[in-house]
Amino acid sequence: MGSPCYRRVTLVKGSHVEFAPYAISAISNPPTEEETLQYKQLRLSGLRTQPQFFGSNFEREAAFTDDAWKARLSASGKATFISSLTRKGSTREHANGVVDTLLERESGSGEQWVGTVTVLGPTFLEELYRNEELFELRNRTLYTIVGVWVEPAFRRKGMAGGLMQAALSWVREDTQHGRGDTPKVIVLRVHRSNAVAREVYLRNGFQDLAESVRNGDPNDEVWMAHDVDPSLRDAHPTGDA
Ligand SMILES: CC(C)(COP(=O)(O)OP(=O)(O)OC[C@H]1O[C@@H](n2cnc3c(N)ncnc32)[C@H](O)[C@@H]1OP(=O)(O)O)[C@@H](O)C(=O)NCCC(=O)NCCS
Repeated sequence: MGSPCYRRVTLVKGSHVEFAPYAISAISNPPTEEETLQYKQLRLSGLRTQPQFFGSNFEREAAFTDDAWKARLSASGKATFISSLTRKGSTREHANGVVDTLLERESGSGEQWVGTVTVLGPTFLEELYRNEELFELRNRTLYTIVGVWVEPAFRRKGMAGGLMQAALSWVREDTQHGRGDTPKVIVLRVHRSNAVAREVYLRNGFQDLAESVRNGDPNDEVWMAHDVDPSLRDAHPTGDA
């Protein structure tokens, strides 16, 4: 796993409140068997629980072999991030009442994965460059975000925001899969009616793409985009790069 960053969420369980720390990290590439299994369970849970939010379906992916799941996580030019709950750690209360939580990652099956986001780099996206709705981005290096899912019991705790920020950092730092020095832009598609996901994306710096909004049916999907290299964009305005 890549370097995790730790947060803490408050869960109300029965009548008492307990702190459940969570970590956001990248799945190793290639993944371990444990990671492959955890990812498969989380992805299938999303496809089974709220299939309307995915471009795939449960029946199709439930039939994947273990090797197919591993291959999905091993491809070069993409990264999958997860948020995981871990109970291991110690707390320290300061005189001013501030409580620090010092955590260590639990390894193996003690950990519960509850959220995920995948970012695909330019090597996966040739057909996006032919998409008319993305014409204004033809001279950019495109990335896309897919597979956004947080288990219902763990929503509204900032996990999707944390996962998006991890994906953004990965894109910013990616030097292996770019197209020269053209500015990087992350695009994603979302149903207009998915107000929650749209709010998460807006809060994390995405904006609707004008062409896509103009063309789209009110019930249709809309493209949103996030400029990762605004300074480069100013140096190479669209069409001149
Ligand atoms: C979209 C989704 C990933 C958000 O996950 P999450 O971890 O709950 O999101 P966050 O906690 O980071 O939410 C950040 C902000 O989004 C908004 N938001 C999240 N859930 C919301 C809700 N139910 N109602 C209104 N606003 C909401 C809020 O502004 C929230 O910030 P706040 O809690 O400080 O008010 C989750 O709801 C999900 O898995 N939905 C189904 C799958 C899906 O829609 N995927 C996207 C397909 S494009």
